[in-house]
Amino acid sequence: MNVFQAVRGALRAMRTVDRARKPYLHLAKNKSTFSLGGSRSESSMASAFKIQEAPDPKTSPVCSYNEWDRLEEVIVGRIDNSVVPPFNSEVKVCSPEKHWDFFESNSGKPWPREHLLKAIAEVEEVCNILTQEGITVRRPDPIDFDVEYNTPDFKSTGMYCAMPRDILLIIGDEIIECPMAWRSRFFEYRCYRELIKEYFKAGAKWTTPPKPLMSDELYNEDVVMLSAAERTEQHRSGRHFTTEFEPCFDAADFMRAGRDIFVQRSQVTNRFGIEWMRSHLGDEYTIHELTFEDPRPMHIDATFSILRPGLILVNPERGCHQIEIFKKAGWDVVEAAQPLMPNEHPLWLGSQWLSMNVLMLDEDRVMVDSNEIPTIKMFEKLGIKTVKASMRHANSFGGGFHCWTSDIRRQGTLQSYF
Ligand code: NVA
Repeated sequence: MNVFQAVRGALRAMRTVDRARKPYLHLAKNKSTFSLGGSRSESSMASAFKIQEAPDPKTSPVCSYNEWDRLEEVIVGRIDNSVVPPFNSEVKVCSPEKHWDFFESNSGKPWPREHLLKAIAEVEEVCNILTQEGITVRRPDPIDFDVEYNTPDFKSTGMYCAMPRDILLIIGDEIIECPMAWRSRFFEYRCYRELIKEYFKAGAKWTTPPKPLMSDELYNEDVVMLSAAERTEQHRSGRHFTTEFEPCFDAADFMRAGRDIFVQRSQVTNRFGIEWMRSHLGDEYTIHELTFEDPRPMHIDATFSILRPGLILVNPERGCHQIEIFKKAGWDVVEAAQPLMPNEHPLWLGSQWLSMNVLMLDEDRVMVDSNEIPTIKMFEKLGIKTVKASMRHANSFGGGFHCWTSDIRRQGTLQSYF
C-alpha cells in the first residue's frame, strides 16, 4: 500500500457512514510528485492529483467545485438595513462575552451608524476591485430585518444578508440554501431569492433542505455558560450547543475540494445536518469531518482553509486533529500569520483570525486585508499574489472576504484531489 492509498484509507475511516467510492477514483500514475515540504512547483500537484475529470456540468451560470479555480462570478453580501440580532443563546454562544452588553442594549436596533457606513464603504471597494479583476459581482436584496416574526416555535427579528457564505452552499451547478441554526437568520434566504430564481431559470440546480423548526429542542442552552475547557470536554463526548433534534448547517462550515468536502461539527452545524448533506450528495462526493482545538467552533474558514491542491492554511491556535493525514499525502500545511487586528476594535461576531478568512481569485491570487501585513507577506512567500483591500469595519459583523462572498462560478470542473 503506498502513502496515497493509506491517506485515502484514513480519510475514509474518518467518515461515520461508509460509502463506496465511484470507480473513476483511480490513483494518478506519477506519485513521485508527492513530496513533503515541496516547493511551489513540487506542491502544485493539481496534475498529479487529477485523476479523471468528470464530464462538464451542463451549461449553468452556477458552477463551483472548490475554493481556488479561477473565479468568474461572485455574490458579495450587503449590510444595509441590518439590525443587531436578539440577545439569545445563539448569539451568546458565538460572541465574545465582552460584547454581551452591546447585544443586550442594541437588539433589534440598527448597528452603530458610523461603523456601518465604514463597513459599507469597504465592501463597495471590494466589489470595485473584484470587478476590475474581471469578476462579475452580484448583490442580494436586503429585507426589513427589524420586522418581528412569529413561528409556532419562536419569535425573532432578523439580522442581515452580509454573509452569503453562511447560507449558500455551492456544489457544482447546485445552490443549496442552508438550514442555518440562528433564529434571527430564519428568513435570510429571501434576500437571495431573486438571484437564485435567475440562476435556476438559466440552468442551475436549486435545493432547499428541510427548514429547521428551531424550537427549544434544537439548543442545549446550558452550554452557553460553560468554560472553554468544559465545552471542549463536552464536544469530545459529543455534546454541543446545537442538539441532533433536526438537521442544521451553515455553508461556511464546509470547505470544498472537488469530490472531497471537509466539514466541522460546530455550534451551528450538527451531525444530522452533515448526514443530510451526505445523503443528498450521494456517492459522487465524500464528506470528511474534521475536528479542531476550538471551544467555540463556528464556520471552518477562520480555522482551516484549502488554498489550492497541495496547500492548506491552518489557524495555529486551533489545531486540526487530522492534519497528519494531509501532511502524509505531501500537502504543505502553512500556519496563518498572527493577526494585527487591534484588541480594542469591536469584533461583535468574530475573532481576530478573520485575517485568514481570504478569498482565492485563482490558485495564484488571493484577496487579503491590506492591514494584515504579516498575512500578506506569508502569501507572497508562498508565491501567491495578494489583492488587497481593508475590511476592518466589515470584519466587525462576523466575516472576512470568504464570509462576505459566495463564489457562484469558477472555471474548473469536478475533480478528485485525493
Ligand atoms: N468563529 C469564527 C468566524 C469565522 C468566520 C472566527 O473565528 O472568527
